[in-house]
Amino acid sequence: MNTVLVATIAVAGLCSAYSEVARDWKPSDLGDSRSPCPLLNALANHGYLPHGGRDLDRDTVLGALEDAVNLDRPLSDFFFQAALSTVPLANATQLSLHHLNQHNAIEHDASLSRPDAFFSSHQDVFDPSIFAETRAHWPDPVISVRQAAAARLGRVQTSNRTNPAFELNRAGAPASVAETAVYLIAFGDVEAGTVRREYVEYLFENERLPCELGWEKSKFVLTQKHLEAMSGRVVAETNSLLNGAGIRDVTTVSQSPLSGDEL
Ligand code: HEM
Ligand SMILES: *[C@@H]1O[C@H](CO)[C@@H](O)[C@H](O)[C@H]1NC(C)=O
Ligand SMILES: *[C@@H]1O[C@H](CO)[C@@H](O)[C@H](O)[C@H]1NC(C)=O
Ligand SMILES: [Mg+2]
Repeated sequence: MNTVLVATIAVAGLCSAYSEVARDWKPSDLGDSRSPCPLLNALANHGYLPHGGRDLDRDTVLGALEDAVNLDRPLSDFFFQAALSTVPLANATQLSLHHLNQHNAIEHDASLSRPDAFFSSHQDVFDPSIFAETRAHWPDPVISVRQAAAARLGRVQTSNRTNPAFELNRAGAPASVAETAVYLIAFGDVEAGTVRREYVEYLFENERLPCELGWEKSKFVLTQKHLEAMSGRVVAETNSLLNGAGIRDVTTVSQSPLSGDEL
């Protein structure tokens, strides 16, 4: 066998088993466009999206999400259309990743790994101290739906308590739930509702797919049905945690997970 091919397979690692092209990974350079979404940033770092993160059209984004995490096109398109609404141009057909930073469009308070807009204009940039608060809810090598829900709820409660401008609006509340659900389904077990903690930490901390750790993209297409089911489980666990604390009526988490306009 040709030595270049052997070397390529060795370097490509496990992610190449299901993607047609082995992907390189390179951190962002100064001037690259990046977003508050760890996954989209990772896809740009790998080259599933253009490394510069700019002028992304529908085919590019839908193709990248399909190749990298096996997300189905209707679901990706739903996110993409929502994302276009953050572009400050009429009838935009392309976006750059930094457009997603627009506060209270899709980007919202109480993120798992980013500061609230009130505290920092860098609400798109990974913040280790905020992520430490999130990770404190994940004591085991495997994260359960309940622990994932507790981490999200903890961030909501911290922001609510400390940020005088705290807001989780009709788009932000379901988006926040969906973001927890989507890391569970894209990197974990859709049925069991579990995900290896190291995969999630690696994604957030490095903005890189956890291929080196043995993760492989889902062998089946992930659809809105999977996302809604997992969002429902996150909401149910959240309500159960709140009821355990004697809080009964929390409208922000009882609404339908995808009732907002966006992820
Ligand atoms: C076109 C598709 C997508 C768009 C436009 C998008 C956009 C966004 C935006 C704007 C945020 C920031 C929300 C915030 O925390 O304030 C976000 C967060 C997030 N996204 Fe995405 N996203 C997409 C797909 C995905 C997929 C497929 C995953 C799968 C793992 C994902 C994982 C996450 C996670 C885990 C967060 C939460 C980050 C945090 O709370 O610190 N996203 N996304
Ligand atoms: C955007 O689309 C609308 C409806 O098709 C059209 O009336 C309007 O002229 C367009 N605006 C621009 C700036 O292209
Ligand atoms: C924020 O705190 C207030 C007062 O305790 C509470 O009524 C509200 O439901 C909280 N908001 C969220 C999103 O948890
Ligand atoms: Mg945010």
